[in-house]
Amino acid sequence: MNLQYEVITADAMVHLDRVFTAEGSPNIAFIKYWGKRNDKLVLPYNSSISMTFAHEAMRTVTSILFTKKLKNDVFYLDGQKQNLENKDTAERFAVLDILRSAAKTEAKALVVSKNYFPTASGLASSASGIATLVFAANAALEIGLNEKEMSIIARQGSGSACRSLFGGIVVWKAGKRTDGKDSFALQVFERDYWPEIVDNIVVVSQDKKKTPSRLGMRQTVNTNPLFGVRTLSAERRLKLFKESYRRRDISGIAAHMMADSNEMHALMLSTVPSIRYLNPISYSLMDAVEELNENEGKIIAGYTFDAGPNANIVTVNKYQKKVMDMLKQFKEKGSVIYIKTSRVGDGPKLLGAEYSMINEDMLRPR
Ligand code: DP6
Repeated sequence: MNLQYEVITADAMVHLDRVFTAEGSPNIAFIKYWGKRNDKLVLPYNSSISMTFAHEAMRTVTSILFTKKLKNDVFYLDGQKQNLENKDTAERFAVLDILRSAAKTEAKALVVSKNYFPTASGLASSASGIATLVFAANAALEIGLNEKEMSIIARQGSGSACRSLFGGIVVWKAGKRTDGKDSFALQVFERDYWPEIVDNIVVVSQDKKKTPSRLGMRQTVNTNPLFGVRTLSAERRLKLFKESYRRRDISGIAAHMMADSNEMHALMLSTVPSIRYLNPISYSLMDAVEELNENEGKIIAGYTFDAGPNANIVTVNKYQKKVMDMLKQFKEKGSVIYIKTSRVGDGPKLLGAEYSMINEDMLRPR
């Protein structure tokens, strides 16, 4: 993994054996990232834009401690010790090596993380997990990186994670450079720019996804002749989306987000082998949102789907009751497991020592 930051610190600056705990939230992309121009550095073909969820609605809490007492890194996720020999986990965890070299330390890390939402169900758990990990480690290692610098490191663990280093509405700039230094996240609208916005996370399945995003993206880039038009189309739509958001225009942002979600899923469908994340309930939800908009005579809500069948349905306070009434039928039929509503939230923050999830036992060799 390449070292993108030369920061002059010494081991003496690192807080060894002291626990740092942070919380951060996932984000939902309205204009999506799907396809890398560099797999190792995680550089996307197109820029993307997202909203960071509020910590009260969806969050990851991570405690980290750097120590010379451990021979290897140790990672617990949701109470389960993770195998860091696993290629995917190791690749993502390598963000810690970037931070360690920046801090000029070889101390190992004990990381304990808990997601307050289902992991691997298309609800961007890797995004908040990696963003929160980078944020907590930056504090523990006293590196003093700012959010933009942390976003460059988080990006290398998981692309969408870079957007979770900021609150509000966030753009991940694709950048052009081959070394990735211009591919970072930045906040484009503050959390309170448009406080009426609400996102309803509609969970229809908690199953692990069939095709990991990483693999799916590679197949799309390598096999899909339609991929050529995606980059331009997404960049163009991102500008339009930002304009609508600037005007606080729900019809505009909803129309752009639905078009972008549909474009990405059409691209997935036409990949070889075909990748399909949506299920029949996802399609019924799309029908229901469109029907609601038709009945209103204007667009009052928009849907978007990531790499999974769960929907995000965005609206504004004024129409939230209509959206919930529409979703009630789905709940009654049992086709929706639960709905979580979130406003636009903040970026990661440090928590007090009382939130530590680390205990002495976890440091004992076994
Ligand atoms: C559909 O960020 O999970 O959610 O960079 O390979 O870790 P990697 O992929 P990841 O992909 C997210 C894809 C998406 C769209 C988005 O969030 O922009």
